Amino acid sequence: MYDMIESSLSDGIMIITIKRPQALNALNRELIEGLILMLEEVDANEQVKGLILTGAGEKAFVAGADIKEMAALSPVEAMELAKLGQHLSKMMEESAKPIIAAINGFCLGGGNELAMAAHLRTASPNAKFGQPEVNLGLIPGFGGTQRLPRLIGLGRATELILTGTMITAETALQWGLVNHVFEQAELMPKTIELMKSILCKGPQAVAFSLKALYGGQDRPLADALNQEAQLFGLIFSTSDHVEGMNAFIEKRKPDFKGE
Ligand code: CAA
Repeated sequence: MYDMIESSLSDGIMIITIKRPQALNALNRELIEGLILMLEEVDANEQVKGLILTGAGEKAFVAGADIKEMAALSPVEAMELAKLGQHLSKMMEESAKPIIAAINGFCLGGGNELAMAAHLRTASPNAKFGQPEVNLGLIPGFGGTQRLPRLIGLGRATELILTGTMITAETALQWGLVNHVFEQAELMPKTIELMKSILCKGPQAVAFSLKALYGGQDRPLADALNQEAQLFGLIFSTSDHVEGMNAFIEKRKPDFKGE
């Protein structure tokens, strides 16, 4: 499976590159399982502070789940595949370390669902986004019917899912599906810069923010606010909060230790 996944680690940033050029980086089962193992590594490895996920080449981020592999699935096998893809998405979303998808081309179906499970998304101008499953007589299965409306609203998500049409990077930016569009040559350097602007903050504060943001989404507002208050209290038990506030008062840059 590692033929299909490349990884590098520099300055605390792991870059995972999905590499299946013959299939526009489409996700087959083996690749999804490989990404789950990589996510476990990201979680366990203290050297890794943040993750950038991208696709090899300039044509595709990920062009969806592997249609050729899916064609032979029984209904039960298809449900299991959806659960596997959803497990990967959930791991990403629940990661305490920030994850950015750097989208360098087609970002379709399961690819868009993978990108939406990242905490932030950057894209090159040639990126194209869509949930084209209806064209195949299918529906999204890796979380698209739920994460797309949460990101861009029910009306726009319904149109994309029912028509299967693609939108440009510019439209994705306008609709809030991506956070930034950078020129192709700038995509990785600027995405790394964005990640560094997060990693220089207190890691505990970043992790707690992610927990409050994502852990609150599916709760009633009162519960989610209660969770936020609890996390706000808990952050006052860290050394980083002392350092952060002292640095402000002493007019110097904070030196966060992640403790
Ligand atoms: N699965 C398997 N193979 C794929 C693929 C996919 N999702 N997308 C592209 N490929 C393969 C093509 O079959 C082709 O292989 P061959 O050379 O062996 O024929 C190769 O990648 C290059 O693709 P194209 O020749 O089609 O390239 P193109 O530039 O003409 O078109 C494209 C690009 C518009 C992205 C087109 O490839 C396409 O429509 N791909 C399918 C996109 C799609 O429907 N994705 C959703 C999949 S379903 C899903 O993801 C379900 C879910 O939610 C879990």
